[in-house]
Amino acid sequence: MIMQSSAPAKIILCGEHAVVYDSPAIAIPVSELKTIAKLEEADDHFKIILENTQETLTESDRHPFIYLVKEMYNSSRLPKIQISVVSTIPISSGLGSGASVASAIALLLGQVLCFDYAQINEFVFHAEKHFHGQPSGIDNTVIVYQKPVYFRRNQPMTFIEAHTTLHFLIADTGTPAPTKQAVALVRSLYEADRVGVPQILARITDLVERARIQISDGNLSELGKILTENHGQLQQLSLSTPLLDQLVNVSLEHGALGAKLSGGGMGGNMIALVQPQEIEPVRKAMLDAGAKNVYHTKLEGRINDYAH
Ligand code: MEV
Repeated sequence: MIMQSSAPAKIILCGEHAVVYDSPAIAIPVSELKTIAKLEEADDHFKIILENTQETLTESDRHPFIYLVKEMYNSSRLPKIQISVVSTIPISSGLGSGASVASAIALLLGQVLCFDYAQINEFVFHAEKHFHGQPSGIDNTVIVYQKPVYFRRNQPMTFIEAHTTLHFLIADTGTPAPTKQAVALVRSLYEADRVGVPQILARITDLVERARIQISDGNLSELGKILTENHGQLQQLSLSTPLLDQLVNVSLEHGALGAKLSGGGMGGNMIALVQPQEIEPVRKAMLDAGAKNVYHTKLEGRINDYAH
């Protein structure tokens, strides 16, 4: 018996960090990058084989993926099975590689143990806490459900639908995204209230609400402006870096409709909204400016779905 599951990467479109303070945020799955998990019977004992790092985890390891599996089985004695995991998502780049691996494992065992998506999402959220401390839950939610989400902590999440297909380029700076540190930095600013953090968070909330409407209406140029404005607020929170700013600037100069850092910041990646004809010039400009990798992803729209 071989069973298989897959889980995508993710990208935050807008509202990162504010989402930790119960504001809404929008995230989309990046299906061009993914994790595949395979389950087989094992002769000897339970193991998870992480093929990318050539690591094997067993029942006695203190590791978030082992905690996840024990929680799903509700037991510390695990069956004789082997889960092999392989991922194309770059590690620590802010694209949700850890959440994607945890989701692929949980989706696989969810089939065996008959859990629904809401339960699987909860298990992955617990695993995320082992990695990130106090995550909002947006990363696991978009990855487990594999759909674009409008997410607000402690509230039922909503899937969002775009009017027309949206094209995004994601540029990876090659510098790890220290999400936990970035969240802690915003917390310290919030507590010291030096840069008017509550006001910044309120403005981000307003942008996210407007972005949701523009996505649904297919107003790409307005959406672009909102994304770029959101970058300004993240800059005020000291989350940008010279390379992230440079990637935003060159994207806009080469025709992107909007651009911003995405996720935790202080490294990691940025995202640009582009029209199809601008994909190649913007991609080239990003690489020339120092991006280590550039990925193209789409959010399929209602209109274009029927047109093709
Ligand atoms: C990380 O992808 C997004 C943050 O808002 C953290 C979180 O929501 O847990 C920075």
